[in-house]
Amino acid sequence: MSASSNPAPVRSQSPKHVAVVGATGAVGVEMIRVLESRNFPVASLRLLASPRSAGKKLSFRGQEITVEPLTTDSFAGIDIALFSAGGGISKEYAPHAVKAGAVVVDNSSAFRMDPKVPLIVPEINASAAASHSGILANPNCTTAITLMALYPLHGAFGVKSVIASSYQAVSGTGAQAIEELSRQVGQIASGQPVTREVYPHQIAFNVIPHVDSFLEDGYTREEMKMQFEGRRIMDLPEFTASVTCVRVPVYRAHSVALTALFVRPVSLEKAREAISAAPGIRLHDDPSNAVYPLPIECSGEDDCRVGRLRIDCALPNALSFWVSGDQLLKGAALNAVQIAELL
Ligand code: A2P
Repeated sequence: MSASSNPAPVRSQSPKHVAVVGATGAVGVEMIRVLESRNFPVASLRLLASPRSAGKKLSFRGQEITVEPLTTDSFAGIDIALFSAGGGISKEYAPHAVKAGAVVVDNSSAFRMDPKVPLIVPEINASAAASHSGILANPNCTTAITLMALYPLHGAFGVKSVIASSYQAVSGTGAQAIEELSRQVGQIASGQPVTREVYPHQIAFNVIPHVDSFLEDGYTREEMKMQFEGRRIMDLPEFTASVTCVRVPVYRAHSVALTALFVRPVSLEKAREAISAAPGIRLHDDPSNAVYPLPIECSGEDDCRVGRLRIDCALPNALSFWVSGDQLLKGAALNAVQIAELL
């Protein structure tokens, strides 16, 4: 993991008993790594997954920890439970964790729109964490990465709306999708028929304009998260977002092409200053030397990157730009651990 402009805080709190639900998944594994790399004060770590993974061993601070099957009794003695096993598991088990006295940081979409549950990107609305009543929500990965670039620009010019297209890595779907891309690349390279289990179409050497399920108005649920979660996180009830989410054959790190419309006139100089001064986002913008954010370079990095920053030629008071970030880190595990650090 790279050096971050968001270093872990100096610790004053006592070590916590921590559980990771979905510990064997694409995000869960990163949560364990981030707890270690940020030196989170862990008194004990309980790793929970489905019965399929029971007995498997994962390493934390040089120790092998045995994965246990998740049950309603898994949270006795736990202070902080990081959930990343899908919305159904969160809905079913988070109340048991809270009842046992744990604070839940949930990576799924199960509670994100619940007004009693703070939805947090620590660089933007850390203070909202204080009002939790046992559960805090981690935002959608594409939304979190987008807001890392958008929020400093909002501070400079006042954002009204965005029009965006995402380029989302397969690891956002989970470990099975990573396997699906690898398998299909192998099948194509060796002239075998392509098999698919996760996506509705071949993902290798293709792009699929379909992330999450479709709504009646033609958008997908994933696409609308940017508007609804963006409003909560930025405390901007009038914010609108028209998004097309696209799955691309990239293993890791999401990218988003955005045009953002602002209330006040924009300037490139001020936009660059605002981004340079913000934590967790880096200006990576020298197009004449082919320098712009690439998912391959953002993979494993805590910070998101923004580039291709330009005054939009079609709309007034608008900027167009490109942002990339590791969605398993800032879009999921890192953001979740940062939320836990606020507690
Ligand atoms: P398992 O590996 O045992 O299936 P991903 O998003 O990468 O697919 O990971 C999903 C995570 O959620 C995995 O850790 C997976 O465990 C876990 N999970 C899936 N179903 C359950 C379940 N019924 N109970 C507990 N954990 C589950």
